[in-house]
Amino acid sequence: MHMQASARLEAAMVAMAEAIDVQFDLLLPVPEDQRARLYEAMRYSAIGGGKRLRPLLVKASCDLFDISWESAVRAGLAVECIHVYSLIHDDLPAMDNDDMRRGKATAHKAFDEATAILAGDCLHDLAYAVLADERTHPDAAVRCQLICALAQASGPAGMAGGQMMDLAAETAQFDLPTITRLQSLKTGALISFCLEAGAILGRLPEERRTGLRGYAHDVGLAFQIADDLLDIEGDAAITGKAVGKDAAAGKATFASLMGVEQARQQATMLVAQAKDHLRDFGEEADLLRDIADFAIRRRH
Ligand code: IPE
Ligand code: IPE
Ligand code: MG
Ligand code: MG
Ligand code: MG
Repeated sequence: MHMQASARLEAAMVAMAEAIDVQFDLLLPVPEDQRARLYEAMRYSAIGGGKRLRPLLVKASCDLFDISWESAVRAGLAVECIHVYSLIHDDLPAMDNDDMRRGKATAHKAFDEATAILAGDCLHDLAYAVLADERTHPDAAVRCQLICALAQASGPAGMAGGQMMDLAAETAQFDLPTITRLQSLKTGALISFCLEAGAILGRLPEERRTGLRGYAHDVGLAFQIADDLLDIEGDAAITGKAVGKDAAAGKATFASLMGVEQARQQATMLVAQAKDHLRDFGEEADLLRDIADFAIRRRH
């Protein structure tokens, strides 16, 4: 069963990675003027890298409600735009000052800081342009809900707010509840959007979203614990980014506060709990179950 599950996940990941690359390629033709460098930097960061886990989560959530492939890919593309922008800015000298991302030079190293900042800004803009387009969903009210949800997830009450707390974690001593809040903003908010996107596209009533939200919460935390563990135990040749950065920066993480073993156990428990939230769904939720397992099994 395990082999089967991973083959199914693998096929879904490959299909989504290809779809996202095709969309970015179509959306970002390089103009023949002074903006060429900006488009090149956007393409450099957005095309051909990353696990595309967030678009896949959107697709898996859409599977529950029979949403079209095109709608799922477009909502997934939007969240990937925000994610890539957040990575470009996260790697800047003013933030984590990293040289490697997705197995190649970071955007500011391959281009320059100013271009990297602008490329991040423009990917942020692109996210909302993608959602606002009629091809995402015929009903403008549904598109507005997607836009509001993504704005909430990426702004100060979401990812960017978590990044702010993360910077403070280098100097302040955070306790476990504060780290949990930091992580659920920094990483969890965008992951929660992915699940919410399926519910919005499927017009699922609010009161029936509890299970999906519980799943998103647990998978988001487990995913970030895995990221912290990879920073401690991972291999840069496989993760595609530098390791050992959190400890070097004196950053408190789940792993530093609980110890590696307990953090791993916590992540395993969270994944089991995430899958339990899906108990009312049948095989239409299998991709979500596979992704939950992958969130902590991954080596990159
Ligand atoms: C890395 O995200 C940053 C975090 C929020 C932990 P991913 O591990 O999803 O990075 P890519 O997209 O695969 O490069
Ligand atoms: C970054 O977290 C999360 C973002 C919102 C970009 P990290 O700084 O831990 O991500 P990596 O380890 O550089 O990918
Ligand atoms: Mg960071
Ligand atoms: Mg970083
Ligand atoms: Mg990290």
